[in-house]
Amino acid sequence: MQVKESLQGLSPYQPGKSIEEVKREYGLSDIIKLASNENPYGSSPAAKAAIAAELDRLAVYPDGYARALREKVANHLGVKETQLLFGNGSDEVVQIFCRAFLEPGTNTVMAAPTFPQYRHNAIIERAEVREVPLVDGRHDLEAMLAAIDENTRIVWVCNPNNPTGTYVNEAELRAFLDRVPPHVLVVVDEAYYEYVTAPDYPQTVPLLNEYEQLVVMRTFSKAYGLAALRVGYGVASEALIRAVEPAREPFNTSTIAQAAAVAALDDQAFIRACVERNRAELERYYRFCEEHGLKYYPSQTNFLFIDFESDGDEVFRYLLERGVIVRSGKALGLPTGVRVTVGAKEQNDRVLELIAQLLREKQLA
Ligand SMILES: Cc1ncc(COP(=O)(O)O)c(C=O)c1O
Repeated sequence: MQVKESLQGLSPYQPGKSIEEVKREYGLSDIIKLASNENPYGSSPAAKAAIAAELDRLAVYPDGYARALREKVANHLGVKETQLLFGNGSDEVVQIFCRAFLEPGTNTVMAAPTFPQYRHNAIIERAEVREVPLVDGRHDLEAMLAAIDENTRIVWVCNPNNPTGTYVNEAELRAFLDRVPPHVLVVVDEAYYEYVTAPDYPQTVPLLNEYEQLVVMRTFSKAYGLAALRVGYGVASEALIRAVEPAREPFNTSTIAQAAAVAALDDQAFIRACVERNRAELERYYRFCEEHGLKYYPSQTNFLFIDFESDGDEVFRYLLERGVIVRSGKALGLPTGVRVTVGAKEQNDRVLELIAQLLREKQLA
């Protein structure tokens, strides 16, 4: 038996530590998990009610074309239903596009560090991965353009970028799209779209009419608080979606997930409230960092990368031993800091108290 060569030496995704794991390992009862950029306020009550209504239909396969959700999202975005591709999370949308476009002899261009699934799936498809270092935590679009050649199939723009939270503005994105050669697909991953407050952040859906090669990705996992259900989607031209649809599994989003996403989309008041609270809490982190002389990347998301200019693992472990799970920058390609999901107020109180304590202890050392 031999798995294909591209899988050899590739590690499975390493998730952040789970609450149960930390409870067991450290003998703690109260754990705060701020490692996966989930919504600390949960999801809309309407989504839960929609799930309950589906519980008598579990023996029946889901609607493979997700018609109700398709209609809802198409109306929400002002696009045609045929411009949408649904995935088991946007993770699967990444996988579908890689499967459809990448093969040996092709290459794909992305920032580094950025969301790791672009690279991971490209490796499985045996495409060359061209990583272009961020500059000050931001995409270096000029260098990304320079990395494109006739064998490039996909360029990824994670906007805002994970793990830095930084963004590409409208003028920058337009100038980039104007110069990307027409044979290259540009996937703009907007997993944190709802959290963005910057006025010059690009509205990409209208740009789909101007740029044939553009794909926009969004998810129900972040602001909509439905990470457990796995629903994300891509939006592109009808022709592009038609071309990649055969690479999608027939029943890739569940009945429950579809129903919950439909209901969640109707509750925009929930999203507005979460985004407002997130902004207020994020600004508390900014103030804290400024008061304590800590560097951070200004964020358009529900997470913040704090650069301690020392070993990120040390900060990670200090917080972990005290019941707070964040993500060490070591695992994310930024070894001197940690990425913290912006939690609810009491959770952030605890994180900030612990970081202040750590800084005091380090000064004494
Ligand atoms: C930038 C980015 N894209 C995509 C995803 C995947 O989200 P999901 O598969 O839950 O839709 C994430 C999750 O962390 C992310 O940060």
